[in-house]
Amino acid sequence: MKSRVRYAFLLSCFVTCANAMQDAPGRVTVAWEAADYRSDLWQDIMAQELMTRYDLKHVVTDKSVLDVGCGTGVIALILACYARSVHGIDMSASMIRAAMHHIRANVTFWCCSAQNLERKNAFDYATAFWVLQWMPDTDKEQAVQKIWGALKSGGQFFGTCSVDDNNQELERALPFLQGKMPKLKDIFADREQWNQLLGEYRSTPERLKELFEGVGFENVVIEEITFENNFSEEGLRTIYTPGFRGLPLMDHLDAQERLQLFELYIGLKKMSLPQQEPGVYTNSTRQLIIRATKP
Ligand SMILES: C[S@@+](CC[C@H](N)C(=O)[O-])C[C@H]1O[C@@H](n2cnc3c(N)ncnc32)[C@H](O)[C@@H]1O
Repeated sequence: MKSRVRYAFLLSCFVTCANAMQDAPGRVTVAWEAADYRSDLWQDIMAQELMTRYDLKHVVTDKSVLDVGCGTGVIALILACYARSVHGIDMSASMIRAAMHHIRANVTFWCCSAQNLERKNAFDYATAFWVLQWMPDTDKEQAVQKIWGALKSGGQFFGTCSVDDNNQELERALPFLQGKMPKLKDIFADREQWNQLLGEYRSTPERLKELFEGVGFENVVIEEITFENNFSEEGLRTIYTPGFRGLPLMDHLDAQERLQLFELYIGLKKMSLPQQEPGVYTNSTRQLIIRATKP
């Protein structure tokens, strides 16, 4: 019983610390909600494909692994079947709480942003699946620096980063959306400021390579892979809900407006995606695969 109380106390400390970290101005302030997140619809399938393609299960065997932005911990748990140990970190307390349901002897989870990671020379291998695209440039640079610091000499990094982020899709659809939601005209009145902010989230192979090399990584290889997945309308809604909540634009909208924008967004998606058969939408996403070594 005593240990449960201690556990609850520790968990509440993580929550407090995580909430405080998310409030920098102009940054994403809405934390990822585990209840919204169904990684099995999309992320897990792509992760399994990547693990096979890059032989990750073999690569992490007997290694100590850091999984950055571990979310609900599903990928960390797969890696833990092969690795000596896996330590998952995520800045969302909700995600970490969900991950902790799967705790195992060689897996630990901790609520912490990548930018605040203080482990030094502790891991043989680090992964970050679909995390870097949610960070603006300055955070991304700090995060990569911390990952570099957390790896032992000779340690390796493997990460994925979406090229087409929701910010860009919204930007492209802005003229249409502004017609439907005049408030967006006010919000985007200073286009230059917005372009700068949204530009900070954009990831290209060149920018990522420069970032990783700038921090000190060597043998930085960035490849682009396109994944195609089929979804029902409900599936589309489920995969886009959690990321949508975290877009910088959402800070300027109330709950009802967020809902209205989401409906417009899903409506546009449905119109633009090819349908395998009525109601089955083929969604393709371009992913950058990043591999790098700490000398
Ligand atoms: C798309 S989910 C990916 C989760 C997991 N890697 C997976 O593939 O299922 C993105 C995760 O990154 C986390 N995240 C975003 N920015 C972060 C940061 N700066 N530091 C740590 N975690 C972050 C979010 O809280 C969220 O859980």
